Amino acid sequence: MVNDRKWWKEAVVYQCYWRSYFDSNNDGIGDLRGLTAKLDYIKELGVDIIWLNPCFVSPDKDNGYDIADYCAIIPKAGTMADFDELLRETHKRGLKMIMDLVVNHTSNQHQWFLEARSSRDNPKRNWYIWRDPVDNQPPNNYKAYFSPSAWEYDELTGQYYFHSFAIEQPDLNWKNPELRQAIYSMMRFWLDKGVNGFRMDVINMLAKKDGFPNAEQPELLDYMSNNPGVHGYLQEMNREVLSKYDILTVGECPWTNPQNGTLFAGFDRGELNTLFHFECTQEMPVVDWNKFKKIQSKWHRAFFGRAWNSQYLSNHDVPRQVSKYASAGVYRIPAAKMLATLIHMLPGMPYIYQGEEIGMTNVQFETIDEYDDIWMKHRYQEIMTTINCEADQKTAFDELRRNARDNARTPMQWNDEANGGFSTSKPWLAVNPNYTTVNVHADRVAGDSVFRYYQQLIALRKTLVPVIVYGDYREIDCRDERIYAFERFTGSDCIRVILNTSAAEIAMPDGCVGWGEQLCNYGKMSKGTLRPYEVLIVKKIME
Ligand code: GLC
Ligand code: CA
Repeated sequence: MVNDRKWWKEAVVYQCYWRSYFDSNNDGIGDLRGLTAKLDYIKELGVDIIWLNPCFVSPDKDNGYDIADYCAIIPKAGTMADFDELLRETHKRGLKMIMDLVVNHTSNQHQWFLEARSSRDNPKRNWYIWRDPVDNQPPNNYKAYFSPSAWEYDELTGQYYFHSFAIEQPDLNWKNPELRQAIYSMMRFWLDKGVNGFRMDVINMLAKKDGFPNAEQPELLDYMSNNPGVHGYLQEMNREVLSKYDILTVGECPWTNPQNGTLFAGFDRGELNTLFHFECTQEMPVVDWNKFKKIQSKWHRAFFGRAWNSQYLSNHDVPRQVSKYASAGVYRIPAAKMLATLIHMLPGMPYIYQGEEIGMTNVQFETIDEYDDIWMKHRYQEIMTTINCEADQKTAFDELRRNARDNARTPMQWNDEANGGFSTSKPWLAVNPNYTTVNVHADRVAGDSVFRYYQQLIALRKTLVPVIVYGDYREIDCRDERIYAFERFTGSDCIRVILNTSAAEIAMPDGCVGWGEQLCNYGKMSKGTLRPYEVLIVKKIME
């Protein structure tokens, strides 16, 4: 199948972590009505699709990724009527909405699991994964993302159940056709309401290794992903559900490379539209631009004309991009714009995570108690028990803070009023103290607004669709590692993107003279030097 035009390929996505967006009833927690109230703001940015994080009934051990009822709204987010109104208002503005589909696991409070665990011969027993103990021990050495073992012993029936994440998140058994049908009908429920697609949580983890052999390096967790059988499940899901709707599906795929990535997002595969790989995010804890550039080239070579990629540096699971990849200091504003340019000009769909459009930064809470995230608490436990020297503990805590998921989860900063205008009550997670200077209001009245720059980037994409959305990609070697330069081109058009990834002033590389200036994050390009984090987009002037 060819790379034909599709609405979703041309779309820009805005991710909304609703619990930290806007609190409409002042109970300290963001909610669906809060998001509805801010739809005009999102529309103004120029995006096409909103990705809504899970808002289903959940004990909230993992902020909604532990679902106890797939077809009901968690009361702290609102009601089903609030959801319907949100969807209606979204569509009214010409925006689309995709929801999180979390079907690798449920909550241990889901009715299915309560039944499954009640006895060995319960009809739902095989909807989850149960194994006998081996020599009174767990069946194998797998670790889980949020606990030391992937197996939890259940006294009542004398077996272990499998969980890739927290103990409270038992994995579903995708080998069971009855379970698969139940998931498909739940998906139809949301699609029939008019939802425009799904972001599929850890979707490449649905299949497990046959026989659960021990892992050579249990701490890596790579054995959880891309196991045989996963493509069969996705092809069936596509045949039974996805292919019947005109939707966007994006799969979250940890430990995926371009080769197995094409199997999920290939045009001829009948699986998903696109995916998130982790090579530039979680799998790159320390930023390495040379590696980053190689990763981009490698994915482009494998995907061009064959599959569709997604570009992101931020989401609710990673630190704030401006803090991690650039600078949250004096150059915060040009740096935020430089990263925005990168994501919007590389091949693939760009994703904006709430707050990124005003350059929000990491937070530094003083003690572990101020953090909320289950992953953070788990890693803290794990690390602190192995280190007993106080100085080393401090270093370890600092590193943990840098990578904390809560960095991205602090409330949206709307203005310089109490709690950043997010809520008049104490927020569920403290607001970043820099809200007095970093906030939507301040950004939008400033001459060098980050928000306005995002609008310009999105507008540029819309006017140059053939080259920015569908064009080829080639890295340009500027003989200075601090510069990242590339071209996007078609047979008749070409743009060059030149990014200074550093805080240094660098001599302007050749190749911009005589090209038409499209966008510069300092307003106007200077002659001779690239300023700290400066970016230029220039376009070849055709005869
Ligand atoms: C995904 C989610 C993350 C969650 C995990 C388990 O990675 O993005 O927030 O903790 O899956 O569902
Ligand atoms: Ca609320």
